[in-house]
Amino acid sequence: MEDQCKDPAGSPPKGISRRDLIKGVIAAGAVSSGSYLFRVANPLTVASAPGSVERLITLNVNGQQRRVDVVKQETLMTTLRYKLGLTGTKNGCDRAECGACTVLVDDVPTYSCSVLTHTVRDRQIQTIEGLAKPDGTLHPVQQGIIDEQGFQCAFCMSGFVMAMVGFLKTNPNPTRAEIAQGVSGNLCRCQDYDKILTAFQRGAELSRGA
Ligand code: FES
Ligand code: FES
Repeated sequence: MEDQCKDPAGSPPKGISRRDLIKGVIAAGAVSSGSYLFRVANPLTVASAPGSVERLITLNVNGQQRRVDVVKQETLMTTLRYKLGLTGTKNGCDRAECGACTVLVDDVPTYSCSVLTHTVRDRQIQTIEGLAKPDGTLHPVQQGIIDEQGFQCAFCMSGFVMAMVGFLKTNPNPTRAEIAQGVSGNLCRCQDYDKILTAFQRGAELSRGA
């Protein structure tokens, strides 16, 4: 068995025992599986090469300039949640079906799971964390949810809220049917749609009065 640890020339690597070798393999596996889980490229294996995309970029998120290390294939959802700690943006399906990851990009509701971060470098990104005023006053859409007790588990809520906030920018005085159409890109697993629409009608009223 010790022979398996020898190099092709037949001599064991100097200063490395079989135990050390096995430990190294296990450690390497832990690094790569962690990278998979968190969708972060292994910094040990990704080297900047001529022609590669610059990794350290600046994003405008909630009115702040945020410097962040982003790999080429990284989605905006991954950057927001796992690099910037903005976990209000949810990962529901990760394939543009549920809307839980919705944020505003230049005021347009956008599935952040389906946008590469590098493509929004010069855009204004707004997440649920950026809706309330600095003094804590909630956005009218958020207040409407509290007033009407909208949502059950609320996993889908931040995506719905961002979709509604974006929709109100295009239609400030919507009917209930128009709201339903406006947020139809978002799904609620609790199927609490009736209360969601009632809460959003209230939010639209508050928005007009604000
Ligand atoms: S997580 Fe993006 S659409 Fe479902
Ligand atoms: S309230 Fe539970 S998923 Fe929408």
